[in-house]
Amino acid sequence: MFEPRLALASLSGESDAQWATAASPWAGLAFLGGLALDDPTRAAARELVAERDRKEFLPADPFGFMDAQLGQLADLNIEPGFNVRAVEPTALRRAAAICEEHDAVLEINAHCRQPEMTDRGGGQALLHEPERLREQVAVASATGATVSVKVRAEVDGVDLPALGESLVAAGADILHVDAMDSEPVVGAIADRVDAFLIANNGVRDRETARNYLQRGADAVSVARPSDDPRVLDRVLRGVQES
Ligand SMILES: Cc1cc2nc3c(=O)[nH]c(=O)nc-3n(C[C@H](O)[C@H](O)[C@H](O)COP(=O)(O)O)c2cc1C
Repeated sequence: MFEPRLALASLSGESDAQWATAASPWAGLAFLGGLALDDPTRAAARELVAERDRKEFLPADPFGFMDAQLGQLADLNIEPGFNVRAVEPTALRRAAAICEEHDAVLEINAHCRQPEMTDRGGGQALLHEPERLREQVAVASATGATVSVKVRAEVDGVDLPALGESLVAAGADILHVDAMDSEPVVGAIADRVDAFLIANNGVRDRETARNYLQRGADAVSVARPSDDPRVLDRVLRGVQES
C-alpha cells in the first residue's frame, strides 16, 4: 500500500501540505486534515475553535482547499491522504472524487469525540450508527478512491473487529485504528478483518512500532510527535527492522 510503513496521522488545523512535506523523508503516507466538509461538521469545527481553543481548518471552500493541498504534494515522495468529517453523503462523494483525481486516500473520520461534533452526527457518532458509516464508505468507494476509516478503540458498545469486517464489505480498503490503551485490539482486528491495518496511538520508538506490527498491523502512524525528527527516526528504524 505504501512504503515505508509509517504514516502521519491527522492533527486538525496543523496537518497541511507543509506539515507533510517536512515529515516526508520518514513516512510513506500523510493524512492531511481533518477537514470538516459540510454545514453540520463546519458548525461543530467553529465551536471547537471558539469554545475549546482547538485548531481547525475552516477554509471558505473546503473542496478547493483539498484540491490545492493535494496538488502541493504531487511531486513529493509520499502517498497523500485526506481525513474528512461529514454528515452528508453528498459532501463525502465530492471529497472522494477529489482524492481519486489525486490518487489520494480518502479517510473517513469516525474518531473525533468532542460532543460538538458527535451531537451533530459526525466523527465518533458514526461508530454507533454503522449503517450510516457503511453508507459513507460505499459512497466514497464508488468514486474509485482508496478508502480508509479512522476508528477509535475503547468506545462502549462498539465491537471493532465486527464493525471493521462490515466496513470492508462496504468498500473500505484501510482501517486506521487509534488503539488508545488497548493494543491487543489490533491483533483482534488483524485476525478477523481483511484490510490494510494501520495502528495508531503512542508510537514513539522501535519497541512501540514493532509491538503493533507483531500484533498484525501492516503499518503504524504517528500524530502528536510528527514534527519531531528524533521520534520519526526511531519509529522508522522499528518499521524497517520488522
Ligand atoms: C490536537 C489534535 C488534533 C487531532 N485531530 C485529528 C483529526 O482531525 N482527525 C483524526 O482522525 N484524528 C485527529 N487526532 C488524533 C490523532 O490523529 C491520533 O489518532 C492521536 O493523537 C493518537 O496518536 P499519537 O499518540 O501518535 O498522537 C488529533 C489529535 C490531537 C492531539
